[in-house]
Amino acid sequence: MSVVSAAVSALAVEDLSVELPRDGTTIRPVNGVSFTVERGRSLAIVGESGSGKSVTLRAILGLLPKGGRVTSGHVAVEGRTLKESRRNLGRGRDAHLSIVFQDPLAALNPVLTVGAQIAEAPRFVLGLTRRAARDRALELLRLVGIPDPVRRYDAYPHELSGGLRQRVMIAVALSSEPKVLLCDEPTTSLDVTIQAQVLALLSDLRRDEGLALVFVTHDLGVAAEVAEDLAVMYAGRLVETGPVSEVLSSPKHPYTFGLLESAIDVDTPDRIPLAIPGSLPDLSQLPKGCAFHPRCFLATPECTTTDVELRSVGEGRASACLHADQLTIGTRRS
Ligand SMILES: Nc1ncnc2c1ncn2[C@@H]1O[C@H](COP(=O)(O)OP(=O)(O)OP(=O)(O)O)[C@@H](O)[C@H]1O
Ligand code: SF4
Ligand SMILES: [Mg+2]
Repeated sequence: MSVVSAAVSALAVEDLSVELPRDGTTIRPVNGVSFTVERGRSLAIVGESGSGKSVTLRAILGLLPKGGRVTSGHVAVEGRTLKESRRNLGRGRDAHLSIVFQDPLAALNPVLTVGAQIAEAPRFVLGLTRRAARDRALELLRLVGIPDPVRRYDAYPHELSGGLRQRVMIAVALSSEPKVLLCDEPTTSLDVTIQAQVLALLSDLRRDEGLALVFVTHDLGVAAEVAEDLAVMYAGRLVETGPVSEVLSSPKHPYTFGLLESAIDVDTPDRIPLAIPGSLPDLSQLPKGCAFHPRCFLATPECTTTDVELRSVGEGRASACLHADQLTIGTRRS
C-alpha cells in the first residue's frame, strides 16, 4: 500500500482579517482574505491605493502597525502555521518567509552597513561562518545588479540612491533563502532596465529554487508578466481571483473592469484611460451590501443590501459580484 501525502501549499492564507485604530475609531483594512500560492508559482495582488495590499502582507508576517491586530485567520508556510515557526526564530523572522517592503529606507537599519544587513541571515539563520556569510552577501549584491559590490558592502543605506536601496532590500529578503517571498511594489523606484533585471531574477528563483511569490503592484502589465494568478483587492476584500491572463482579458468583476479601463496602455497610446468614478470608501463607514456599489455601473438595488462573498465563476475563477454573469463584455484592451 502506498501512502500519498496531501500536497502542501508554499503559502496558505485563510480568512485573514485585521483591525487598526485610526482617528479614534477602528478600521478593518483586511477582511476575510484567503488565498494559496504553490511552490514556484506567483500571485499578483492589485487594487487602488488604500485597498489593503500592504496591510495584508504585513499581517502575514505578523508585523502590523502599532495597535493593529489580526482578528481572524490562519497563515501557513509549507504547512507550518506561522506562530509555530516564529516561536523558533523570533517575531517576523521566519527563515522561510521574507518581504520586500514598499519603502526600503524605512525598512533598512540606518546604523548598519548594507553588507552587515545582508550577511545577518546567512550567519545567524543559515549558520554560515562570518567569512562565508560575507561572501554570500557579496554574491547577493551582485545578483541584484549592484555595481561594485565590494565597495557597496560597507555603505550605509542613506548613502545609496533609492534604486540601489530597493535592490539592497531585495538582497536582504533573499538572504535567508526563503521559500516564500512577499514583494510590496518592489520595482516602482527602479528604472526600466533594472526592473526587468529584478523581475528576471525572481523568475529564475521561482524556476530553479521553487520560490513562491506574492507580488503587490499597481501595474497590471507587471502583474501579467510576473504572475500566473491574480487577486484583485477592494476596500480590504478580495473581489476577483483567477489566472492572470483570463482575469485581464475577461474580467468578472466591474472593479477589475474599471482598473483595466483606467490603466494607461503603452501599446495603445491613443486610447484614453477611463477613470473609475468616485473614490475608495472610508473604511470606517463602508457602504452596506457590496462596498463597490456607489461606483459600479452594474449596480442594482439588491447590491446595496446583499453582502457578497467570493464565489466560483468558472474553472479556477472567483468573483464577489452578484451580477458577474452580466459581465461578458471584454475590455477595450482585448
Ligand atoms: N499605520 C496605520 N494606521 C492606521 N491606518 C493605516 C495604517 N497603515 C495603513 N492604514 C490604512 O489601512 C488601509 C489599507 O492601507 P494599505 O497600506 O494596506 O493600502 P495599499 O493597498 O497598500 O495602498 P498603496 O497602493 O497606496 O500602497 C488604508 O485605509 C490605510 O490608510
Ligand atoms: S455586486 Fe453589484 S455593485 Fe457589487 S460589483 Fe457586482 S454589480 Fe457592482
Ligand atoms: Mg501599499
